[in-house]
Amino acid sequence: MIILLAAGLALANAAVAAEKEAPMKATVTKTSYGKLADGTEIELYTMTNAKGMVCKVITYGAIITELHVPDRQGRLGDVVLGFDRLEKYLAGHPYFGAAIGRVANRIAKGRFTLDGREYILAQNNGPNHLHGGLKGFDKVVWKAEIVPAKDGVAVKFTYLSPDGEEGYPGNLTVTMIYTLTDKNELRIDYTATTDKATIVNLTNHSYFNLAGEGDILGHIVTLKADRFTPVDDTLIPTGEIKKVKGTPMDFTKPMPIGSRIDQLTNDPRGYDHNYVLNSGGKKLALAARVEEPKTGRVMEILTTEPGLQFYTGNFLDGTLTGKYGIVYKKHYGFCMECDHFPDSINHPKFPSIVLRPGQIYKQTTIHRFGVL
Ligand code: GLA
Repeated sequence: MIILLAAGLALANAAVAAEKEAPMKATVTKTSYGKLADGTEIELYTMTNAKGMVCKVITYGAIITELHVPDRQGRLGDVVLGFDRLEKYLAGHPYFGAAIGRVANRIAKGRFTLDGREYILAQNNGPNHLHGGLKGFDKVVWKAEIVPAKDGVAVKFTYLSPDGEEGYPGNLTVTMIYTLTDKNELRIDYTATTDKATIVNLTNHSYFNLAGEGDILGHIVTLKADRFTPVDDTLIPTGEIKKVKGTPMDFTKPMPIGSRIDQLTNDPRGYDHNYVLNSGGKKLALAARVEEPKTGRVMEILTTEPGLQFYTGNFLDGTLTGKYGIVYKKHYGFCMECDHFPDSINHPKFPSIVLRPGQIYKQTTIHRFGVL
């Protein structure tokens, strides 16, 4: 009898173990995330991969609201900044997790000339235009559909930006496929087409904190960039391309974010610079690696883009309280926005962001997660 009981227990334990080890099936679910004042329903898509990693995205701004990634013990933790409800996103925030367009970063004085015609955009950041204007792609409602993925699960977001929206020419059709792969990668594939010559520079503005709390100064960063684009005091590139070697800008070897941040002279102090990636943006290539020593989490970024805006949350000042009641103070998150250089349209020597009818804008950026 005792033997039988023991055998029974052993079988039960084996069944539990088998259940733990059996690969889960990746899933994606759609739920309601609330409504805008005009009644428009906002959807929340929850993607879970076969390893249990979770990515949540809403149709408002195609915002990544949560990203749960394992640490070295296999414990999941949310590594992006954001809120736990729609009202907080609607109340205003510095682009947490959002899609950015039509043109990411700044356009000097909100002006540019294309094919001999001058276009005037909103000056929504001091004298300059920032992140697509007053109502950029971070504040529009995207159409979403679950689409098949080769490896994992995917949601496709679509938006038609009408001719003249925020002052930009051309009807622009944008698609972004967010894929959570079973290799713990979050991949975003962008496309855009237009019916008139226009400018396009898309990115995602997630703020990461691989420890899930506290400041990010101890995160160790490597950037595949020997050069950067210096800026004036309104954060517009001067047009020079400078070597990072021998300066606090140098992350060609792994360096804690905070190791030389005090040597920077901008106000509020911190990194907010476009790095010129060594790959030249010609093909999908490794752009950055970030290690968080306490949790062991590692994030690698691969992109097809020529630039990476490294921003250390310098404008976070403790006035916003995010998920889990965390008060977002200075340097509580960092962004690595893969895109073309700021103010490219006013710098003919920078890689072009002009899109013409018949051409297809394409960009792919992958965030790959692992442990030390
Ligand atoms: C980008 C810019 C920063 C800042 C943030 C949003 O990363 O480079 O200067 O405007 O967006 O607060």
